[in-house]
Amino acid sequence: MKKIYLGVNVDHVATIRNRRMERYPDPVRFAILAEEYGVDSITVHLREDQRHITENDVHRLSQVLQTRMNLEMSISKKIVNFARIVKPNSCCLVPERREEITTEGGLNVYHQKDEVREVVEKLKSSGIVVSLFIEPKRDQIDASIEAGADAVEFHTGFYSNSRNLHESQEELRKIISSATYARSKGLIVNAGHGLTYQNVFDIAKIYEIHELNIGYSIVSRSLFVGLKNAIKEMKRILHEARKRNVNNRSGC
Ligand code: PXP
Repeated sequence: MKKIYLGVNVDHVATIRNRRMERYPDPVRFAILAEEYGVDSITVHLREDQRHITENDVHRLSQVLQTRMNLEMSISKKIVNFARIVKPNSCCLVPERREEITTEGGLNVYHQKDEVREVVEKLKSSGIVVSLFIEPKRDQIDASIEAGADAVEFHTGFYSNSRNLHESQEELRKIISSATYARSKGLIVNAGHGLTYQNVFDIAKIYEIHELNIGYSIVSRSLFVGLKNAIKEMKRILHEARKRNVNNRSGC
C-alpha cells in the first residue's frame, strides 16, 4: 500500500498568538509536537505582511524541524530572496491578496508562466523542491510543467466548500482526473485547503496523491482532544482511505 503523507499547516497557531500580540501559543513548539506525534512535514505560509507566521518563526523552524519544512509563499522578489536564504525543503507558490482571510484560489500559472518560471528556476537552483498551488485543471497542469515545477498542490477549496453531494462529486471528479493526468506527466501531486475529518476520506483515496497539507481542522480539533489525538485521528482516516483503495487505483 502506498502511504499518503500528512503535512500540518501551523499558521493558525500564529494567528492566535498575534491576535493578542503575545509570545504564545508558539507555532514552533506546536510544530515540534506535531512531528513528535507523527506528521510528515510542517507547512507555513509566510505572507508579505507577516500577519501570522513571521520571518523569525521561519528561521526558528528551520533550526529545529526534524521532518521537512514546506514554505508557502507568493512570487514576490522579497519573499523569494528570503526563501533562498532559509532554504526550506520545499516551497509552494501561492497567489496572495492582502485583504483575503485565507488563500482564495489557485495560482494562475497559465497567465503568468514567465514570471513563475523565473521564480521556479531561482528556487530550484538553491536546491529547493518547488510546488505550485493550482486549481485542478489541465491547462494549469500543463503550464506548471512548462514552468519547471517539481510538484503541484491541488486547491481543494471548491471541493471543501461544496454545498451538496452533486457539487462535491463534481469537484472530486476534477481532482481525480487532474491527479491522474499530472502524475502521468511526472509531477508529484499534493492537495490541500479546507480539508476536514469529514471530507478528507475521498481525497485521501486518490492513489496519485502523495501528500495532503491540512491546518485549520487539525488545529481546531486539537483544542478539544489534544494535538496527539487530533493527529492520530487524521492519520487513521488517511490510512483507512488508502487501505480501501489498494485494489482500485483510479481513486474511485
Ligand atoms: N495548502 C495551501 C497552499 C494553503 O494556502 C493552505 C491554507 O493556508 C492549506 C494548504 C491548508 O488549508 P487549511 O488550513 O484550510 O487546512
